[in-house]
Amino acid sequence: MKSYKTLLDENRAWAEDTFKKIDKKMSEMTLRSRDKIPDGVDKDGFHVDRMQTNPNWWCNGFWGGLNYMLYAYTKNEEYLKTANRSEELMDKALANYDKLDHDLGFLWHLMSGANYKITGDKKSRTRNFFCAATLASRYVMDGGFIRAWNWNSARDYSIIDCLMNLPLLYWASDEIGDDRYKKIAMAHADMSILDHLREDGSVVHIVEHDRETAEVRATHGGQGIAVGSSWSRGQAWALYGFTISYIHTGEERYLNAAKQVANYFIANCCDDWLPRIDFRAPAEPVYYDATAGACAACGLIELAKRLPENEGGMYMNAAMNILRAMTEKFVDWNPENDHMLGYGSVRYPVPGTYTEEQAGVHISIIYGDYFYTEAVLKLLGAEFFAW
Ligand code: GLY
Repeated sequence: MKSYKTLLDENRAWAEDTFKKIDKKMSEMTLRSRDKIPDGVDKDGFHVDRMQTNPNWWCNGFWGGLNYMLYAYTKNEEYLKTANRSEELMDKALANYDKLDHDLGFLWHLMSGANYKITGDKKSRTRNFFCAATLASRYVMDGGFIRAWNWNSARDYSIIDCLMNLPLLYWASDEIGDDRYKKIAMAHADMSILDHLREDGSVVHIVEHDRETAEVRATHGGQGIAVGSSWSRGQAWALYGFTISYIHTGEERYLNAAKQVANYFIANCCDDWLPRIDFRAPAEPVYYDATAGACAACGLIELAKRLPENEGGMYMNAAMNILRAMTEKFVDWNPENDHMLGYGSVRYPVPGTYTEEQAGVHISIIYGDYFYTEAVLKLLGAEFFAW
């Protein structure tokens, strides 16, 4: 197996060329969508403004975050202007306390956390601290988990996605030199190893806990095909999420959990390296989820960097196979529309429950573009790390 470094060198020209295309497309998109908070595109391929329908939607930090990430690498002020505008628009959502849930990391850490890291903006630091305190307050003490959503029936739910919100807590502890936020993040990550991670390396999307005894009462299929299934974006959240907890804590148990999920993810990618929505769904019809591939590629690259040569090479090789295959099949470079990485899917279209349209199958979703860009920037050695 070639090492991480050899593979990085071999793919350098590809990454440079791909990033040029991303930058070209994004430098037009950033002007067109400056006053929007996009999470998807309309039938003509233009960004839809989520601010008009749901300012608190969990995806609303990715556009600002993507622009900060691009500004950090290119120093193109137009990206900074759009990112600042996005953050300003999102203050309306931040003021709506009852609508805030565990997705505060996705929403503000990628945006305000990024702004503070890049420019030192004090207002963004305050926004991020408010979010960290609110996220920490969702920790259910005896149950040992961070509550995911606000509706009553989800009172005792934790979801695997929450691993990606924990960086907000790691940041807050580092920033004030007090480990109380970090301890909550680690308690939640430990619960995820115990309750979400299965022996074969797959993960459960939703766990329902007994909040007094911390026992698992039930598991739910969530956005996958059924109970006991393996929703690929959930696997990607776990792969990258455990890796990030390892980066912030140095605890081997998170590295081992990340490797277990990564091994499972790689084993379940088909010959074409294009992740399906659920690894346990029937082979036909073929439903892809490119967002799972993009997020997993980020996790695989970070994992590869931190492992001995040969072992790291295996993960890097998988990341490159996924990125190259998705670029070939799913990316639209036409500068006249706002859609870059296509073939994302919100959830599995369970027959009799959701049509393909209701499930949001094979669409362009903003976090697909976010993770795809992040992965390509990693290949170029970008220093900025949002998580
Ligand atoms: N965090 C929700 C999703 O991945 O769709």
